[in-house]
Amino acid sequence: MRTQSSARERDQSESHEIRIGDRVLPSRFFLAPLAGYTHLAFRTALRELGGLGLATTDLVHATSLLSKNRKSLELIATSEVDRPLSIQIFGSKPDVLAAAALWLEDHGYSGVDINMGCPMAKVNSQGGGARIACEYDSACELVSRVVDAVQIPVTVKMRLGWDRDNLTAPELAAAFERLGVAAITIHGRTRAQGFGGSVDMDGIRQVVEAVEAIPVVGNGDVRSVNDAQAMLKTTGCDAIAIGRGAMLDPWIFRRLELAAQNKDWDFEPTPDEQVHFLRRHFRLMTEQHEEYSCKLFRKFAGWYGARLGIPEDLEDRLRRFESFDEFEKIADEIRSRHGERESSVATALVKVPNGPVERW
Ligand SMILES: Cc1cc2nc3c(=O)[nH]c(=O)nc-3n(C[C@H](O)[C@H](O)[C@H](O)COP(=O)(O)O)c2cc1C
Repeated sequence: MRTQSSARERDQSESHEIRIGDRVLPSRFFLAPLAGYTHLAFRTALRELGGLGLATTDLVHATSLLSKNRKSLELIATSEVDRPLSIQIFGSKPDVLAAAALWLEDHGYSGVDINMGCPMAKVNSQGGGARIACEYDSACELVSRVVDAVQIPVTVKMRLGWDRDNLTAPELAAAFERLGVAAITIHGRTRAQGFGGSVDMDGIRQVVEAVEAIPVVGNGDVRSVNDAQAMLKTTGCDAIAIGRGAMLDPWIFRRLELAAQNKDWDFEPTPDEQVHFLRRHFRLMTEQHEEYSCKLFRKFAGWYGARLGIPEDLEDRLRRFESFDEFEKIADEIRSRHGERESSVATALVKVPNGPVERW
């Protein structure tokens, strides 16, 4: 069993990099998957800002991947600069998950992450996502089949448990480590909490203390350098995965890298840098999706609107544009009218499901 203080001492004395299985990652600050947002284009634009240690794809249905479903292949699309990357798979059948992991290894991917945290009914009702973590034996069977199928590191992302009465994560993390899992990412909420309430730091710490040596990646509500440092300190976790915080502040990984070097991290990206990020994100998207990017990018209009302080009429045009030329004109105007509207960093912009979690 690891103690919290030994993890903390190690964190302060060692470098920014971190090892997961045979992978040496340049930073201990990772991008948590946000299905629909953290695709190749966004990951690449983020990586160009610096400081990102590891990104993980959206959850990919293992069966669909094996049947070469077009959407699944789009989700695992990557490039030489989109490194280091893990592919997250989900499903409930050990054979299928093991076969999907092997397929990924055979196709050159360097890491597989098993989703055990998704709270959505369509995933849980088929026995996948957070539901897997309810059954100790079958969870272990599934994990051991995947680990045995491949040489590349296998990691697991999970929640603290199904609800307050079933906090299974520490016991499972210890079992998964014995089975050969290379790291655990732990979102400090239960499935019953959905995205509500607050992250349970003590719950994350219990997972850290349950494992012998593998890295534990803390996750949930990290929005700033201070939040990340507080999570490292209070839980003793080895790394942090940031999802919505990276949408709010794409510069967060760069800031964390600077903070680790004791440099000034509290900068405001210039208007040029902000608009460059917007253009870069879109252009990278066109490399994968061509004309269809005009539709795909609309999803980001509200976020860019608030984050970059884009005047509302331009935000509206960003939601409706139909050609690359139109996009460039809008981006030019966004630059020239920068500052007309105040930037706001409202977390609600990355939509989470609402209503009672039982009905998601
Ligand atoms: C829109 C959205 C999509 C998500 N998609 C995934 C996913 O595909 N796989 C996964 O493991 N977690 C997914 N998550 C959970 C996040 O990775 C993360 O655990 C959670 O948002 C808490 O971290 P954060 O506060 O840093 O965002 C998603 C969360 C949101 C809000």
